[in-house]
Amino acid sequence: MKEIKGLLKTHPAVFSVGRDYQIMVPVKEKCIMWVEVDGVRYYDSSNGINRSETPVHRMMLPMAVLDKAKKYTLGYRKIINRKPYFPELEDEVCVDYGFRPIESENINIYHISDTHNLIKSPVEAGKYFDNKGEALDLLVLNGDIPDHSGTVENFDTVYEIVSRLTQGGIPTVFSRGNHDLRGLCAEAFADYTPSDKGASYYTLRVGPIWAILLDCGEDKPDTNAEYGGTIDCHSFRLAQTDFLKKVIENAKDEYEADGVKYKLVISHVPFSHKLEPPFDIEPEIYTEWCKLLGESVKPDLMISGHLHRCFTAMPGSGFDTYGQPCPVIVGSTLIRPNKEKDIDEGFVGCALTLEKKSAKVVFNKNDGTISGEEAISL
Ligand SMILES: [Fe+2]
Repeated sequence: MKEIKGLLKTHPAVFSVGRDYQIMVPVKEKCIMWVEVDGVRYYDSSNGINRSETPVHRMMLPMAVLDKAKKYTLGYRKIINRKPYFPELEDEVCVDYGFRPIESENINIYHISDTHNLIKSPVEAGKYFDNKGEALDLLVLNGDIPDHSGTVENFDTVYEIVSRLTQGGIPTVFSRGNHDLRGLCAEAFADYTPSDKGASYYTLRVGPIWAILLDCGEDKPDTNAEYGGTIDCHSFRLAQTDFLKKVIENAKDEYEADGVKYKLVISHVPFSHKLEPPFDIEPEIYTEWCKLLGESVKPDLMISGHLHRCFTAMPGSGFDTYGQPCPVIVGSTLIRPNKEKDIDEGFVGCALTLEKKSAKVVFNKNDGTISGEEAISL
């Protein structure tokens, strides 16, 4: 693996958000940071000020710029003393990275969710395409990657997994899971992860893929004792109904835009399915989301995690409670007996290949065994 240099804790993650990339990287010490492409620098700045007081840097640039250049230079200067006048910084350090946008006919995607802070076995499983001698084109991290948001260091799990599987060189899609809403850093989650101006739900384009991220938030009613009154997800979900309607109004620039070949729904919780109490929340909202998606967006696939199981479900199947708008893939199983923290006994993720009008789905365990394989017509 390429060496991780200097103040970087990991290789950068190139997250896809909207029509931009957000290149994010956690650092060991305070520094200002930028990404340079074709002689143009894109700084991590806030209202004109280069940021240094952050454990995770974020540089934003148009997707088209990096897709064309296929390489970028990450640069930083360590802070010695950021005094109000004549602040002192060390000299520049620059690290070059290659980048491969999605341009292949067949698109290899690896889906990981619910790793709950574990890294080793999810990364081993995520090397599925590498081990076959094929290239991974897109990584999807679909929620509950850290076990909770209790400390800033928990977010390192996200960056470790992305770093080891992409080495800063391919795009990643990231969505939030219900456990991510828990702990002291949950309210500032968007500071440490990709977001659309702070929102954890948005649409994105990556190559010929258009995707909509929907965020169900917590998995029980806001009044559940486990939350102690700290959760307001009902209004958050209602806001996403409005968001979905606006996306549909703007279809020509969204899923009907030039070059869109695949339409994906990415949601940690497979919201088209009613779970057992107390998880049987929001039947009206989830039914409306399914209806809006099914009648207007007509997605090809929905990709979810949350259930710690791996399977596919077609519309009209026993899994379809609220009017599934498309086939659903639930694709990750963490094998952790007795819920003991830090015991990693294996992970099953989902390798997904989009090829013309079909999706090849493989559920593979980190030890190389295949637990399921099927093809879905799109
Ligand atoms: Fe979950």
